[in-house]
Amino acid sequence: MTDVWQSAMDHAVAVARKAGQVVREAVGSVQSEAVMLKSSSIDLVTQTDQKVEKLIIHSLQEKFPTHCFIGEESVAAGEACVLSDSPTWIIDPIDGTTNFVHSFPFVAICIGFSVNKQVELGVVYSCLQDEMYTARRGKGAFCNGRPLQVSQQQDIRKSIIATEFGSNRDPSTMDKVFSSLRKVVSIPVHGVRGAGSAAINMCLVASGRVEAYYETGIHVWDIAAGSVIVSEAGGVLLDVEGGPLDLMSRRVLAANNRSIADQLVKEIDAFNLQRDDEPAS
Ligand code: IPD
Ligand code: CA
Repeated sequence: MTDVWQSAMDHAVAVARKAGQVVREAVGSVQSEAVMLKSSSIDLVTQTDQKVEKLIIHSLQEKFPTHCFIGEESVAAGEACVLSDSPTWIIDPIDGTTNFVHSFPFVAICIGFSVNKQVELGVVYSCLQDEMYTARRGKGAFCNGRPLQVSQQQDIRKSIIATEFGSNRDPSTMDKVFSSLRKVVSIPVHGVRGAGSAAINMCLVASGRVEAYYETGIHVWDIAAGSVIVSEAGGVLLDVEGGPLDLMSRRVLAANNRSIADQLVKEIDAFNLQRDDEPAS
């Protein structure tokens, strides 16, 4: 069978590198007055996010004019967030915008590509570390060309778990977030970490540096590319209640294996936020 998506992968890697260069040049010089707000006072966006998204979409559109696009900043500007069966590029120009604003060194360019709602390839470029994570369905996951493998740990008590607080500070949401965190920490696990980028957290699972990552509040552009990187590294992707991952549900649990995932599911107090494919009320 012909390798239909290899040129898509090559192009995505090339444009992620170009985008990473733009981000590297801008980090460290973000003026506080240039930081804009989206859903809340802690949901940040900058002109670099917008510029990088345009750069990525223009480049991919030129090469693949019939494909569809979901981009974080295009959706923020009013475009619909629709994941159809058509070939669709799912883009987060900067995952870890708060890190970018603060020069905290975990910032990723995320490019996922789905067909029939299945993610076929993912590119997560941790551009300040110059780590290029890539995966194609059925063909393995890599970082800078080196194969990735999840941790073999079965015992959650010997694990590091990644999670984030996201950008929602609604008190009832925070109660659930903290009660889950308290239970996870108290298992006890070796540690809880958060890189400040959903995509990088997923790549940490894929590379065996943490055993699992869970969060409610992420969006499809934060997790699409990372999802195929985790599964191709041998990990599992689930909903936080243990069912199959739904990319549009704002909920994710990525783990090195089903046993660690199931132990986490028991401790997480699940809740729902407005889905990515639900029109704004
Ligand atoms: C955010 C980051 C953060 C996660 C949030 C995401 P952004 O993405 O991935 O780690 O906690 O839920 O929205 O806004 O930096 O692209
Ligand atoms: Ca972003």
